[in-house]
Amino acid sequence: MKANAWQQDQEYLSLVEDLLEQPAVQKLANYTQHHHSDRLQHSIAVSFDSYELAKKMKLDYKSVARAGLLHDLFYYDWRTTKFNLGSHAFIHPRVALRNAEKITELNAMEKDIILKHMFGATLALPKYRESLLVSLVDDYEAEHEFFAPLRKKADGLYHKIKVRVSI
Ligand SMILES: [Fe+2]
Ligand SMILES: [Fe+2]
Repeated sequence: MKANAWQQDQEYLSLVEDLLEQPAVQKLANYTQHHHSDRLQHSIAVSFDSYELAKKMKLDYKSVARAGLLHDLFYYDWRTTKFNLGSHAFIHPRVALRNAEKITELNAMEKDIILKHMFGATLALPKYRESLLVSLVDDYEAEHEFFAPLRKKADGLYHKIKVRVSI
């Protein structure tokens, strides 16, 4: 079943299973992300769809899979918690990066993917095509999560994103 395709993809699992086992990642399941998904489901969807697309585009799919999984590693309800220092869009990638660094070593690309995933809502430019890819998949997931089967989603997504990432 495509909804669980990530669980059957041994290569994907080998890239992220050390992260998936971490309590810091598992507890994302306690937070609602969008109306129909929790933050863990959302993070896996962004990670796995980005991984599949990155593979097709011959990008660094390993960094994409790992950083995609960690891009929203924060523990507050973004709909009710407000900050004095800046918007949620600005703050939470920084919080996620700090939390991610506590559980794994990150390469420069992985850091950029996490920090720039709100590109569009924030001004910081992605340094890598992989960062732009995850940012676009994240936008797409926010709109489509649980409204379309992943396989159907992935085809349209691939064409839409390939054009934008290749520019
Ligand atoms: Fe985010
Ligand atoms: Fe996200």
